[in-house]
Amino acid sequence: MSAKELYQQYVTAMRKIADIKYSIALLGWDQECYQPKKGAEFRAQQIGTLSGMAHDLFVDDKLGEILSQLKSSNDLSELQKRNVEETFKDYTREKKYPTSFVEKIAQVTSQTYQAWLKAREQNDFKVYSPMLETMIDMKREEAEILGYENHPYNALLDLYEPGAKTDELDVLFKEVRSNLVDFVKEIAAKPQVRTDFLKRNYPYQPQWDFGIDMLKQMGYDFDAGRQDVSPHPFTTNFSMQDVRVTTRVNENDFSTMLWSCIHEGGHALYEQGLLVENYGLPLGEAVSLGIHESQSRLWENLVGRGFGYWKGNFRNLKTVFPEQLKDVSDNEFYKGINKVQPSFIRVEADELTYHFHIMVRFEIEKGLMDKSIQVKDLSEIWNARYKEYLNVDVPSANKGVLQDIHWSHGSIGYFPTYSLGSFYAVQFFNQATKEIAGLNEQIEKGELLQLREWLREKIHVHGRRFTARELCERITGEPLNFKYFMQYARKKYEGIYGM
Ligand code: CO
Repeated sequence: MSAKELYQQYVTAMRKIADIKYSIALLGWDQECYQPKKGAEFRAQQIGTLSGMAHDLFVDDKLGEILSQLKSSNDLSELQKRNVEETFKDYTREKKYPTSFVEKIAQVTSQTYQAWLKAREQNDFKVYSPMLETMIDMKREEAEILGYENHPYNALLDLYEPGAKTDELDVLFKEVRSNLVDFVKEIAAKPQVRTDFLKRNYPYQPQWDFGIDMLKQMGYDFDAGRQDVSPHPFTTNFSMQDVRVTTRVNENDFSTMLWSCIHEGGHALYEQGLLVENYGLPLGEAVSLGIHESQSRLWENLVGRGFGYWKGNFRNLKTVFPEQLKDVSDNEFYKGINKVQPSFIRVEADELTYHFHIMVRFEIEKGLMDKSIQVKDLSEIWNARYKEYLNVDVPSANKGVLQDIHWSHGSIGYFPTYSLGSFYAVQFFNQATKEIAGLNEQIEKGELLQLREWLREKIHVHGRRFTARELCERITGEPLNFKYFMQYARKKYEGIYGM
């Protein structure tokens, strides 16, 4: 068989798997947005059945044979080769898992999640701790199954951020600690900015409409997506031509809708920017969670939390909410949405202290994997680190170690991608400012399409063609460098807090 025919077989097989996976995603989206209570049981079964089908198709020996033949072929284009290499990597990894492990971890995940829910209800870590211990044991086993160099945590990091290494993150978070902790203390010594106006009453419908307008301004394509409401905002996609976002609206806190809209919009632009011709193939998928998060954070923090963005948009906002904002200037609004204040809850944290939340989780995950930390001690360790980095006394388990869903799902190695994304975002945006003439003036006028095009051309269209590191070097001329985040943070917050 010719390489061309073989490649076509590979593409056909991959697209069939993609059809199933995206159908699962659609069921999952519905589960979060519209599914009635009683639908849960059969829905779980349906998702389970389809997941099994997708898995069986992917680990099929026939696909393995096609892949090994294609790997040794000299007749593929560079892009075709890249698709094959990436799929082969995924395939080899998937084949490592024994069926017994896959079945057991599915069961443990569901039990751990239930234990987490129960513990949250009772605000008691001990209710969760035994199941979490089983989960962590399984994650250690998973690291052994997958294989790693140096640190077992590397095996899990690689699932979310291919190529990321524990020792590199150690260096990164050491820089976060040595630079950001003191800077936040300096800020805390300054008079606090006002935020009272964010908590006034903002009726539902005009908030929703304003969010839709923001998405349109960013260039989110409503012919290739839609926005709905869910308790925890997220982005999901069923192809590059159907990318859904969700938000939530709190009538007594304007910031809830505001940030989730821009953040998820940034994620969605990435997915909408992938090329249709790569549907079902690695080049039609995002490169890593860190790069994905760089897109949401770039829009949320660099654009949405910038003064320029609110030059025009604050005028629009004031026409929608004249009463609520009558005593607020654009400068006060800008300062208010950038308030820095250490707190217990990660998802409510500001753009600086956020990284301390991640640092705590990173250190704990690493310790759990190399056994230097035991699950039974997590509450104490958690609270002590929060005191050390954020100088807050965690009042309860729900506001502490029980706040995140991630570990109950077995997602260990996920958290660091949030910080990586924020740091990549600054580095990318710096470069965009250099390459797009008059970018800041455009943002002030609410013209955001050239920025979207730049991101599309530099990042979105490539999918998994380059690794995260290669991508960063191609775009900015160097690998990820924390110094850009720190420079940005100093300049911005010294201005806001008059330092
Ligand atoms: Co995100």
